Amino acid sequence: MTVDKWILENQELVNPLYKPRQHFSAPIGWINDPNGFVYYKGEYHLFYQHHPYSAKWGPMHWGHAKSRDLLNWEHLPEALTPDMPYDEGGCFSGTALVEGDKLILMYTGVSEVNGKTRQIQCLATSTDGITFEKSSHNPVIDERQSKNTTDFRDPKLFKKNDKYYSLVASTDEGIGNVLLFESTDLENWKFTSVFLTAEAQQGKIWECPDLFELDGKEVLIVSPIAFTPDGHRYTNVNSSVYFVGHVDWEQGTFIAESYDEIDSGLDFYAPQTLEDAQGRRIMIAWEQMWGRNIPSDDLGHRWAGSMIIPRELRLVDGKLRQTVISEYQKSVKLVSSQQVDQDYRGQLESLTQVETKQPFSIELGGADDYLDFRYDGELLTVDRTHLKQVIEGEEASSDKRSRACSFADLTVKIYVDKACCEIIVNDEITFSTTFYLETETPEIRIKGNELKVEQYRSI
Ligand code: FRU
Repeated sequence: MTVDKWILENQELVNPLYKPRQHFSAPIGWINDPNGFVYYKGEYHLFYQHHPYSAKWGPMHWGHAKSRDLLNWEHLPEALTPDMPYDEGGCFSGTALVEGDKLILMYTGVSEVNGKTRQIQCLATSTDGITFEKSSHNPVIDERQSKNTTDFRDPKLFKKNDKYYSLVASTDEGIGNVLLFESTDLENWKFTSVFLTAEAQQGKIWECPDLFELDGKEVLIVSPIAFTPDGHRYTNVNSSVYFVGHVDWEQGTFIAESYDEIDSGLDFYAPQTLEDAQGRRIMIAWEQMWGRNIPSDDLGHRWAGSMIIPRELRLVDGKLRQTVISEYQKSVKLVSSQQVDQDYRGQLESLTQVETKQPFSIELGGADDYLDFRYDGELLTVDRTHLKQVIEGEEASSDKRSRACSFADLTVKIYVDKACCEIIVNDEITFSTTFYLETETPEIRIKGNELKVEQYRSI
C-alpha cells in the first residue's frame, strides 16, 4: 500500500483532543523540522519531517502541504519517501529553491554503509509542486567532500549571482560548523569553504542552517545540539540561534557581529524562513523539543508535534523582532475588551493581548492545572510545573524557562491553540511552549497593574 493511501485510510484514528487548528500539524503521525518552506506560484509550501506510521520518530518522509494564508493548510501527497538505496534510512531535512517554473528540493539521504551512517545531499524536482522526481545524479554532494561522514546534513540551497550554493551542517571533532558548496548546474558541486565554525561552547552540530538578508544585514540561523547554557539562555536540549553579520563572498565565510537565541520557550527548534511576494521574511519552526515525552503520543492519540504560527521577522538595532503574521488577525474576532486595575479573569481564548505595568502573573487553565507565565521585574518565566500532564526530558529542568529583561510597560500577546502556546512580549521576546490541559473549560487569570485586556476568538 502506498504511504498516501495508508494515511488516507488511517487518519480517522487520530484523536484530535489536543491537536491544534491554526498551527500546522500532520494528518497523522510524528513531525519534526519544517523543510523546504517556500513561496511558489502564488502559494506557500511547507514540507516537514514526517513519520506517518506512528507518533514517534522513524524513517523520515517529507510530508507536504500548501496554503494561501499560512494558517489554513491543504495536505498533499508525501513529497519524498525513503525508497532509494542512498536514502533508505530516511529523507532528512533540507530546503527548496524556485527556478522558473520548477520547484527544487535539496535534502539529506541517510543510509547505513558497512555499519556506519552515511549522510549525503540529494535533489528532487517538480514542475507541478505536487510530484517530485529524485535526480538520477544523486547524491549530488557526497561525504568525500566533507571531513565528517556521519553528521553531514540539512542543506540550505540558494542562488546568488547565477551560482548555486548549499550550506550543509557538519561537525569537526565535536565542534559544529556550516560548510559551503557551490555549483553552476546543480549536478556538479564542489566544496568552497568552511562558512562558519562554532566557538567551543556553541554546540557540537549546527543543524538546519538558513541564510537570508534582513534590513541591511545578513542573518545566519542554525540549530545547535548541546549549546552550553549561559545563565537562562540556551537551556533546552537543542537551541535555535541567529547570527547577525555579513558574508565575505570572496572567502566564502560568514563574519558574525552578534548572536542570540531566537526563542526563550520550552518548545522551539529547527526554524526555516522564506521570502514571499510582498518581500516579507517569514519564519516557521517545529513547536516541540527532542528528548522529552509528548503527551499526545503517551495517550495514544496517534499524532505528535506541530509548527509555530509563522512569524514575520525584522531586524532592529541588530536584534530580531518577531510578530505573528498579519493574516492571523483576520482569522480571529474581538470578543472582549476591558480595562481593570489589577485582576482579570475570563475564558481562555485564541488570543489574549494584555497591556500592563510590571510585575504581572498570568495563569492559563484550571484551578490546579495551568500554565504559568510571570514577570517579576527582572525575569520573564514560563512554568509548566502546575500542569497535570507532565513533560519530562533529559535536561536538568523541562518545566521552566526564563529570560532576563527590564521593561516598565509590557504588551503581552498570548496565542493559544489546543496544546500550542506562543507568548510574545513587546514584539521582542518570544516563548513557544506546549501544554496539555486536562481542564475542559480553561480560564485565563491575570494579575497586573493598570491592565488593559483584549481577547480574540478564532472565527
Ligand atoms: C533536526 C534534525 C536534523 C535532521 C532531522 C531528522 O531536528 O535532527 O538535523 O535532518 O532532524 O529528522
